[in-house]
Amino acid sequence: MLDFGGQYSQLIARRVRECGVFSELLPHTVPLDEIRARFPRGLILSGGPASVYSDGAPRLPRELLELGIPVLGICYGMQAMVRELGGRVEAAAVGEFGRSSLTVHEHGRLLAGTPGAQSCWMSHRDTVFEPPPGFTALASSAESPVAAVEDRARDLYGIQFHPEVVHTPCGNAILRTFLDDVCGCDMAWTPESVAEEQIARIRDQVGAERVICGLSGGVDSSVAALLTHRAVGDQLTCVFVDHGLMRKNEGDQVVAAFRDTFHVPLVAVDAEDRFLRRLRGVTEPERKRKIIGEEFIRVFEEQAAALGNPRFLVQGTLYSDVIESGGGHGAATIKSHHNVGGLPEDLGFALVEPLRALFKDEVREVGGALGLPDRLVWRQPFPGPGLAIRVVGGEVTKERLELLRDADFVLQDEIRSAGLYRELWQSFCVLPADLRTVGVQGDERSYGYVVVIRAVTSDDAMTADWARLPYDLLERIASRMINEIPQVNRVVLDVTSKPPGTIEWE
Ligand code: XMP
Repeated sequence: MLDFGGQYSQLIARRVRECGVFSELLPHTVPLDEIRARFPRGLILSGGPASVYSDGAPRLPRELLELGIPVLGICYGMQAMVRELGGRVEAAAVGEFGRSSLTVHEHGRLLAGTPGAQSCWMSHRDTVFEPPPGFTALASSAESPVAAVEDRARDLYGIQFHPEVVHTPCGNAILRTFLDDVCGCDMAWTPESVAEEQIARIRDQVGAERVICGLSGGVDSSVAALLTHRAVGDQLTCVFVDHGLMRKNEGDQVVAAFRDTFHVPLVAVDAEDRFLRRLRGVTEPERKRKIIGEEFIRVFEEQAAALGNPRFLVQGTLYSDVIESGGGHGAATIKSHHNVGGLPEDLGFALVEPLRALFKDEVREVGGALGLPDRLVWRQPFPGPGLAIRVVGGEVTKERLELLRDADFVLQDEIRSAGLYRELWQSFCVLPADLRTVGVQGDERSYGYVVVIRAVTSDDAMTADWARLPYDLLERIASRMINEIPQVNRVVLDVTSKPPGTIEWE
């Protein structure tokens, strides 16, 4: 798939994979040779925000349409193809955004087996008015005289609507037709098959050398570690650094799963004291992050040295990270601070990255297939600096962390019991460190801590909406926190979305 900057590009790539066909998303600027070197069975051109007529609009090189493989253009991809081959694309008087109805005049190859009238999702202003010579117009919609085209002789296809979104009910069938009937793909790819491939590749890469892996307790590093263990067994040692900023019992769960269930050699480092010592007196968020990041690297280096400095390091880099760094989206800058608690690339290890081809949900599938417990497979994201960035506006002390851990435990427990854990992107507590409020408990005045509940829904953490938790659930959470944690006498709910708020308070 070539990405012309459309908001749904990643989704198209995932839909293709869901059909059982491996797909890669590359920037539209990728050199032709790199495409050829991959021997693709077909090419999909994504949508994009530009008008084919605007200055600097991404061009579609003619050679791409002459590779001898089928090409499907979607939205901008179709318009660019039509224009390049001599059809007529123009700005329509009105755009077409949202649900629309499609009338099929001729099913051709691409729309075979779909109804003559169907709904579809549109998002465009430019419109195709005439197909290029050699093409057949297959369908139209209210605002698009030509909404689908094909040229069977050259195996070129185009659709104006978005087949990847749920509002196009026949979208999957159309993608399937393209992949199966047109491209002749064998539709047998699964995330597990990538896992098998990766296991073989790790074996090749690593040979008889030793490998080290930093386990964080998150699903990415867990799955990466398990795949590596499958590949090279006890040549791998995992290092789990407990910085004392984890949630309740989380460290134990990681150690139990890896050491006891999977028998992966694991060093668990209790580094709480040294992290807390370095955080003493520190309140500024970015300083906290810096200190925790540095200390983490130091502990990790010590462990690597104690293991005789293994040559290889396992990293849980995902496909979305690869796309983001290659695609040059703005995402990179927003995310830079999010690497805190990970490892920089210049530590001198050779990297083993078995998840580079997988999306997050595929990593979860592989984790499940490898037998990773649901608790680890479905864990919500947790920041590297952990609870340190959730004790806000004052010093991070062991007592405050304990209190926050207890409150957080109540929150997770109730959210899981209510069956909401997987629906939420994140749910956690924040503790304003230096704030006390007055309350009345058992006829006596109390002066205690305030716990903030933060729960959000999100797809990718770039934007987020505050979660509308049911009132009775909130009430249960609040009364449990106040009853079970003596220092707490007030619970409040954060109702800020992102933007303007961020997910974390620091
Ligand atoms: P914000 O607060 O920027 O967070 O909306 C977006 C996502 O990133 C996580 N986050 C971090 N993750 N180290 C991390 O590994 C960090 O320093 C960090 N800060 C925020 C946050 O939990 C959310 O998922």
